[in-house]
Amino acid sequence: LAEPVGLVPTMGALHAGHLALVRAACERCKSVVVSIFVNPLQFGPQEDFARYPRRLAHDRELLSSAGVSAIFAPSVEEMYAQPPLVTVDPGSIGEHLEGERRPGHFRGVATVVLKLLELVRPQYAFFGQKDAQQLAVVQRMVSDLNCDTEIVSCPTVREPDGLALSSRNAYLSADERRAAPRLFQTLRAVAERLSAGRTDVPALLAELTPELSPLRPDYLAVVRPEEFLPLAAAPPGATLLAVGAAFAGKTRLIDNIAVKTP
Ligand code: PAF
Repeated sequence: LAEPVGLVPTMGALHAGHLALVRAACERCKSVVVSIFVNPLQFGPQEDFARYPRRLAHDRELLSSAGVSAIFAPSVEEMYAQPPLVTVDPGSIGEHLEGERRPGHFRGVATVVLKLLELVRPQYAFFGQKDAQQLAVVQRMVSDLNCDTEIVSCPTVREPDGLALSSRNAYLSADERRAAPRLFQTLRAVAERLSAGRTDVPALLAELTPELSPLRPDYLAVVRPEEFLPLAAAPPGATLLAVGAAFAGKTRLIDNIAVKTP
């Protein structure tokens, strides 16, 4: 493959958000590899590994005119010839929020991303900002483990009503889909208050949590993007992330918005 090589790691069921990553990769790289692998290591025992959408034919079709050099779609047996004994511990960035609700999730993500980087050896790898904690874990891993790949983060792609694109949106019923943008709207309200000078994060979040309704709140938090530790007070002159997760029926949605405090 002609260098620079760009890797777009995905779990398939591709949508416009993935295609934006592919476009960003094509702009920067001579060759672009898209990996499609539903990674069992990052799903908890009660999670949706078995029913996660798998649409390889559809994904190939979508990518056929996208300028991709190769699709890497290994089987579970190919990726994990033996049960992995050595895995990547993402440390404190992976402990809170998503990490707390999905024990082992970021260990699974970091481990498979490191394996993909080793297999493809890309100069660049492209990740969406929607999974902001994943992005933070991957960025820190690449830095701490001296991986020879630059991580490029790309803006979240949204539906016109604000809902962040996600392969899991396919699970939503019509009613759930109507309610789903509430997460983005609530995070936007948090971000607006912070940029207007509110600093008392717990009180602010308690005030705005009811706005998620009819979604069922999981968490709202404000974090530094490189730490993912929930803040009790918003520091001045900082770039922060308002992050959240909420349930629409059984489907868990996550989203985040960046905000600069005055
Ligand atoms: O964001 C995803 O789709 C996955 O977590 C990733 C990065 C492909 C690792 O399995």
